[in-house]
Formats: sequence, structure tokens, C-alpha cells
Amino acid sequence: MTTHHEVLASWRFDDGLLAPTTASHQVAVQVSRLDCYDILIAAGLLGGRNPLVEQRLRAGAESAWIVTDEIVADLHGERLSLLNFGGSWVRDTLVLPPGETTKSQEGWTRCIDWMTRKQVGRRDAVLAVGGSVVSDLVGFAAATYMRGIAYVNVPTTLLSQVDGAMGGKVAINTPHAKNLVGAFHHPTMVVTDTEFLQTLERAEIANGLAEAIKTFAIESSDAFAFLEETVADCLDGRLERLTAVVRLCAEIKMHLLDNDPYEVDLRRVLNFGHTLGHPIETSFAYEGIRHGEAVAIGMASAARIGHRRGLTTDKTLERLVGLLTAAELPTSIDRSAVDEVIERVEIISAIRGGSLRFVIPTHLGERMMIVDDVTTAEMTDALVGS
Ligand SMILES: NC(=O)c1ccc[n+]([C@@H]2O[C@H](COP(=O)([O-])OP(=O)(O)OC[C@H]3O[C@@H](n4cnc5c(N)ncnc54)[C@H](O)[C@@H]3O)[C@@H](O)[C@H]2O)c1
Ligand SMILES: [Zn+2]
Repeated sequence: MTTHHEVLASWRFDDGLLAPTTASHQVAVQVSRLDCYDILIAAGLLGGRNPLVEQRLRAGAESAWIVTDEIVADLHGERLSLLNFGGSWVRDTLVLPPGETTKSQEGWTRCIDWMTRKQVGRRDAVLAVGGSVVSDLVGFAAATYMRGIAYVNVPTTLLSQVDGAMGGKVAINTPHAKNLVGAFHHPTMVVTDTEFLQTLERAEIANGLAEAIKTFAIESSDAFAFLEETVADCLDGRLERLTAVVRLCAEIKMHLLDNDPYEVDLRRVLNFGHTLGHPIETSFAYEGIRHGEAVAIGMASAARIGHRRGLTTDKTLERLVGLLTAAELPTSIDRSAVDEVIERVEIISAIRGGSLRFVIPTHLGERMMIVDDVTTAEMTDALVGS
């Protein structure tokens, strides 16, 4: 293939340009994209003035703008003000209502209007301080404002620390489908202080554990066994255990993304549990169910489908459902809710040209299989847990 530079080097104006021709003219372009960023993880990283964090953040942006939600602003005002490094690096803060419904077209408009009014510039960075509702929304606003400005993730929920703040997938929901409008836009840095987790409700820790269970089930039976032993401590908020889980997940997720950072291969194993998880969330209109809870049901269902087909071993299904249950997560839905979920599944399947890919576990921490011919009857049985 001709590279961008070769095409440019061979360009010239000549008389032939205006001659009538029926031949089509082809300009081949190859654009390479390289994003590089660091993920810093420690308990207490933002607990006081931290010269390393300060120097790294300031080097990346002339000034900063914080976007957060009301709950994080209330609980962690002090940590937020420390991000100002005792000066005026942070110019202003936008505080959004908490919850999944903020990750919407209205939420995006609100961010963009605020950034425009405040004249956020190209040399600035937006700091997304919050859970993955905040990082997905702010990341998408940063991707689209002026065709892309820098943003930094400061994740405050377990779910965002183990998964959502890393990988550069940013999006908003529409009433029809989860994450339907989005982009790939990597943060310039991720600053993960696990002390944020000290104020999380138990159900929010469980919510984050769902994505950790997903990551470990895909890649590491040792990490899965570690979580089986420590799940009760994690739910109780034992910080050194949670920090270990966050670190493991960051390393494994980055390893899994290494070969395919822009999700060219749509059969990505990290979607385990999401084929049904996303439609479940949409069927709840994004209220009354957490992302991790929906993914937990999605993972248990995918394993049941695999088990019925002889792909998932007895032990894998048993340990997966066992760990999800120990993490106080749901593993099935009521029969009365199934039709609505299947309707949402059909919308997504239609958008994707009729195909729906399920990531099916075989053995824990080993090979995942991709199956694209799952029937409605199989989904229904799996969702209700039979
Ligand atoms: N981009 C990705 O790769 C990716 C990966 C996984 C999930 N996601 C997305 O993440 C979203 C869910 O993120 P989430 O679970 O972090 O939800 P969230 O951001 O809504 O946070 C959950 C709740 O916890 C509160 N909260 C945040 N930090 C807190 C703290 N330190 N103490 C007490 N309360 C706190 C929030 O205000 C909110 O009420 C979903 O939209 C999902 O699609 C994205
Ligand atoms: Zn997820």
C-alpha cells in the first residue's frame, strides 16, 4: 500500500489533470495512529500534594477543567481541590447529576455548552473525576469538542478503576441502545487512587467486581481463584485487596487490548457478558439496574448457553455463577422481563446486519469461544436461569 508520505511526494499539477477520462483515480492513504498514556495506581495517590502526579498532569495541559457528579463532589471535595495543586491550574468545575441517565444526548450537550461558554482551549485538559458514567460522557465530549481535546481520567468507582477508565472507548446511550453513539478517544493519563473506594456503597463494589470477574474469567484462572478467596474482604471494602484487584485488572485489560486497541476485531473477548447485558440495561431504561449487575446476568447466561451446547464445562458454569453470587450479583432475570430484553436484542442484531456474537467461556481463564447462531429460545432459557 502507498503510504501517506509517498502519495504527497508524488503529487504534482499537470495538464493531464483537465483531460477527459473515464478512468477512476485512486489515492491510497495509510494513516497510523499511536496513543500512549500511563495508568498510575495507588491507595492515597491524591490524598495529599503528590509531586509526581502534579508534574505529570501539569506537563500535559496549561490548565484544567473538572467534570464530576454531585455525589463525588459532595464526598470528595477535598481531594478535588487538591487537584488544583494549591494554585489556579483548575479553572472551573462542572457538577452533573449522578447516574446512568446523565450519559445521554442531553448530558453531552450540557458538557459541550459548558466547555464552549468557558472557552476551554486546545492546550487544556478536561479531568473526568467520577465513575464510568462521567468518564464515558466526558471522554466523548472531549473526543468531539473541537474534533478532539485531551482528557484525563480520575476514576472513583471500582467499576471505572478496573475497567471503564482504561481503553479509550467513550460513548453515550440513546433510548434505543446502550453506547450507540461514541468514539475511540484515549485519555492522556489515568490517575487511580483506590482510597476513593472507601466511600462506595457495598452494591457499587459488587458492581465493579462484575467486570473484574469478567476479566479474570477470560484471562487468568489464578486471578479468578484469588477473587474467590477474597470476595468477602473486597465487599467489606478491604483496601489492599481492592487495590490488588484494580492492579491485576489494569494489567490484564491492557494486555488484552494490546493487539487490537481500536476493536477492529469485533469478536473481542472483553465483551463477555455484554451481548445480553446491554439490552438488559436498555430494557430498564438505564434505571434500577447497574451496568455490572446486567453484565453479571449476561455472563451467567452466556455460560448457560455454552453449557447446554457442551462448550462450557460443568465446573466453569458452577464456579462462575458461584463467584457472581458470592459477590452479591444477580445471575438471572424474571420471566416477565424476558420479552422486553429480547426486543432490545433484536434491535441491536438488526443494526449489526442480523448477527449477534456471544462470547462463551470454555474453561476459566482459558479459551473463550465466539458463537453467532444463538436462538431466541436459548437466550430465554439462559436469562431465566434454566
Ligand atoms: N468505556 C468503557 O470501557 C466501559 C467499561 C465498563 C463500563 N462502562 C460504562 O460504565 C458505566 C457505569 O459506570 P459506573 O458503574 O462507574 O457508574 P457511575 O459512574 O454512575 O457510578 C455509580 C454511582 O457511584 C457514585 N460514586 C462515584 N464515585 C463514588 C465514590 N468514590 N464514593 C461513593 N459514591 C461514588 C456515582 O455518583 C454513582 O451514583 C456504564 O455506562 C457502562 O456502560 C464503560
Ligand atoms: Zn462493561
